[in-house]
Amino acid sequence: MDIMKKNRALVMAMAAVMGLSLSASAFAEETVANKDKPLVWFNRQPSNSSTGELDMTALNFNENTYYVGFDANQGAELQGTMVLDYIQSNIDTIDRNGDGVIGYVLAIGDIGHNDSIARTRGVRKALGTGVDKDGEINSDPIGTNTDGSATIVQDGSIEVDGTTYVVRELASQEMKNSAGATWDAATAGNAIGTWSSSFGDQIDVVVSNNDGMGMSMFNAWSKDNQVPTFGYDANSDAVAAIAEGYGGTISQHADVQAYLTLRVLRNALDGVDIDTGIGTADEAGNVLTDDVYVYNEEERSYYALNVAVTAENYQDFTDSTVVYEPVSNQLDEAEHPRKSVWLNIYNAADNFLGSTYQPLLQKYDDLLNLDVEYIGGDGQTESNITNRLGNPSQYDAFAINMVKTDNAASYTSLLSQ
Ligand code: BGC
Repeated sequence: MDIMKKNRALVMAMAAVMGLSLSASAFAEETVANKDKPLVWFNRQPSNSSTGELDMTALNFNENTYYVGFDANQGAELQGTMVLDYIQSNIDTIDRNGDGVIGYVLAIGDIGHNDSIARTRGVRKALGTGVDKDGEINSDPIGTNTDGSATIVQDGSIEVDGTTYVVRELASQEMKNSAGATWDAATAGNAIGTWSSSFGDQIDVVVSNNDGMGMSMFNAWSKDNQVPTFGYDANSDAVAAIAEGYGGTISQHADVQAYLTLRVLRNALDGVDIDTGIGTADEAGNVLTDDVYVYNEEERSYYALNVAVTAENYQDFTDSTVVYEPVSNQLDEAEHPRKSVWLNIYNAADNFLGSTYQPLLQKYDDLLNLDVEYIGGDGQTESNITNRLGNPSQYDAFAINMVKTDNAASYTSLLSQ
């Protein structure tokens, strides 16, 4: 008899002596192999960092595996349109040196992250600066292009009230620090310092793949120089900065994503239909409507939908850590007993994940009766995180945010042992 069976037999015998009746299912939890436990990937979708192709092996690791993120293309299009709308509505003042060229600089988060790639493309598409590469807009950084000679981008043009302006991507760069961390806000702050000192009067707009980098550039330069700066994420500090001239941001509905991240685990642990409390109301009344998320079954992925946040509506987004009201009802612990979850954040210093996503997760974990252990990585090395998944048997489920989207196997191999 193996040790598990021996223990079970012993407890059964004790229970019988004590007059209790225990069913075999009371032990189910002990016997679930790590490879069969619910697993959710979030924020970094398992995919090839060069081609963007989804890693379906990781997404189908077991029957309770999902990805939770947001619709990167819809968000990217919104971001591009938001910038374009701003330029069009402020055409009289936007061209600071009056040379007829609307110049912008672009902070790129991570050249191998599909969210970052989509945002770069969305901005270039809306502004007419994108150049086709293998059927898609090239998303590579250009370095500098003050004279418009770059081949990765082209000059765009917009016509407002009968006048045609050139739109030029003056510079773009992946904001990666020397240790290898991407989406690095400090690097963006330094970059705007370098750019502004060599061609500052040509910069009319600052665009960033996220608010962490956007705010760093805003605080370092664009706020004082009144240059509109656009980010992504709707972190609370960025939303507040709209009152001070930050141009706008995009909410990726982190309040919905954080809920979905833990909810799919809860449902799998409860053995109920995966749609419970998502498209179908649960007994506590939690339910999402289809204007805030989509589920793509083939991709095993839930995608929250994005909303633009500008001077017109920012008052509704001032606190990015408030739970989404339609899914804010406490689950009954008798029906949904406490379970333990191992969850990591790829970089403890990431602005969005640290200041918006994790505080939301910490609110939902209470509502969903999940005891979550939060692990913060260094943003550079996968092993810094996987080293802390030494004993997966201790947990009932896993939520993973990889450093690199190609690295799913570093985690699944630990769960398969
Ligand atoms: C966010 C970024 C964040 C990144 C981390 C993106 O969706 O917009 O702010 O740095 O995720 O993976």
